[in-house]
Amino acid sequence: MSAEKRPQWSSHLGFILAAAGSAVGLGSVWRFPWYTGSYGGAAFVLIYLIFMCILAIPMQWLELALGRFSGCGPVGAYSQVGNGSKWWKLAGYMALVVSLVILSFYTVVAGWTVGYIVFACGSELFDPAVNPADIFTAYTASPWQQLVSMAFFMLLSAGVVLLGVEKGIERISKYLMPVLVILMLVLIGRAVTLPQAAQGLSFYLVPDFSHVTFGTLVMAVGQAFFAMSLGVGVIMTYGSYLRKEENLPASGTQIAFFVAIVAILAGFIIFPAVGGAPEQAGPGLVFMALVDIFRQLPAGRLVAVAFFFLLAIAALTSTISLFEVVTNYFHETFNIRRRWGVLLTGVLATILGSLSALSLGAVESLSKIDFLGHTWSFLDLMDYLFANILLCCGVLLLSLFTIFVWGLKNAEAEIGINCPRFAKIKPFWRVAVAGLVPVSITFLIVYIIVTGHGL
Ligand code: TRP
Repeated sequence: MSAEKRPQWSSHLGFILAAAGSAVGLGSVWRFPWYTGSYGGAAFVLIYLIFMCILAIPMQWLELALGRFSGCGPVGAYSQVGNGSKWWKLAGYMALVVSLVILSFYTVVAGWTVGYIVFACGSELFDPAVNPADIFTAYTASPWQQLVSMAFFMLLSAGVVLLGVEKGIERISKYLMPVLVILMLVLIGRAVTLPQAAQGLSFYLVPDFSHVTFGTLVMAVGQAFFAMSLGVGVIMTYGSYLRKEENLPASGTQIAFFVAIVAILAGFIIFPAVGGAPEQAGPGLVFMALVDIFRQLPAGRLVAVAFFFLLAIAALTSTISLFEVVTNYFHETFNIRRRWGVLLTGVLATILGSLSALSLGAVESLSKIDFLGHTWSFLDLMDYLFANILLCCGVLLLSLFTIFVWGLKNAEAEIGINCPRFAKIKPFWRVAVAGLVPVSITFLIVYIIVTGHGL
């Protein structure tokens, strides 16, 4: 596909909204507190922020630049710039498989946000005699509730992509996301005045490096890439719709900033409410801790409905981005109509997603899987293998592709268009993209393979 035929963002704002919509989502509000709770508290936060700056932001500029330069999504970009090499095309395919798997389990969690809107309208969620953890456990153990929540969200995402109303959703989210941030500030106000807040804040803010393990590093890198939607070609695809006038480093960094702020705010809600290192840190952490706060707020029911609604919108703008890359691929590669592409993506993601949906208690054999010396749920395992390890591999391949095929000089030229300040940052960028990224990710992967331990 030639660059001329590509649709383009009609405005700078359109691009920022879509890219920020993809980035800001459950990764920051749900996954970041879960990982922080499980992998070392404040030390994890610090390492995550450092990795954001030295690994994720430089790679984000690169992914945007390759997209804009080639005018293609991942499969096209690798094969075109790589002169049709089969091997590099494989990197593009891997990106697609990873997107599909992320879409599958992400939709399950997005479905929970909808389930909780329903709960917030009922009585049990606000009944002080019922433990929030029990509500979550009972919900995830119910196969029908899990499948229905997930299927609902999948249909919603498919509907948006099919009707081509993504832009509309992104425009609405421009008004809704600031409201989400304001609501988060309100929740923080309540959380930090709870009696157990001090211990929670110290867990969240005072680093204790004795808890840092190899796993902390793996999860922090994975989270930095995941939160920025890197490594699977989503950002490359968005870059391919960009005009040359766009200042890549400036826009990219703005998005990164927003992602980090939302994540940090989420932690300020969850940890004061939990009051220290969470005993049950896992995918359910956020849903349990939030209910505790809603119960102790005036108009808690209203706040809860509003919060979960806004979170669902944030999740929707992320699922659309994943849905789009996969659909576009089917559409362009097999030359099938877009609507068949949407159907195929939706069916595949639903089948895979069902396994994750049923893995938090509903089906025993999916809920307890032994792997690498740990017991995982299918959802956790997909999250770890695809959204951390293979996501890192995707980022590594992009870095290697740039070093050996595209050329660092070409990449720098593309990034530097309309960004005079990039000339000064260039040496640091080069160290990150051609040094830190390949060396650190290769090390992580070799270590996991050799020791059989990623955590
Ligand atoms: N970044 C999103 C979040 O944090 C999730 C997401 C959307 C994503 N598209 C992606 C993650 C592509 C990895 C790759 O919620």
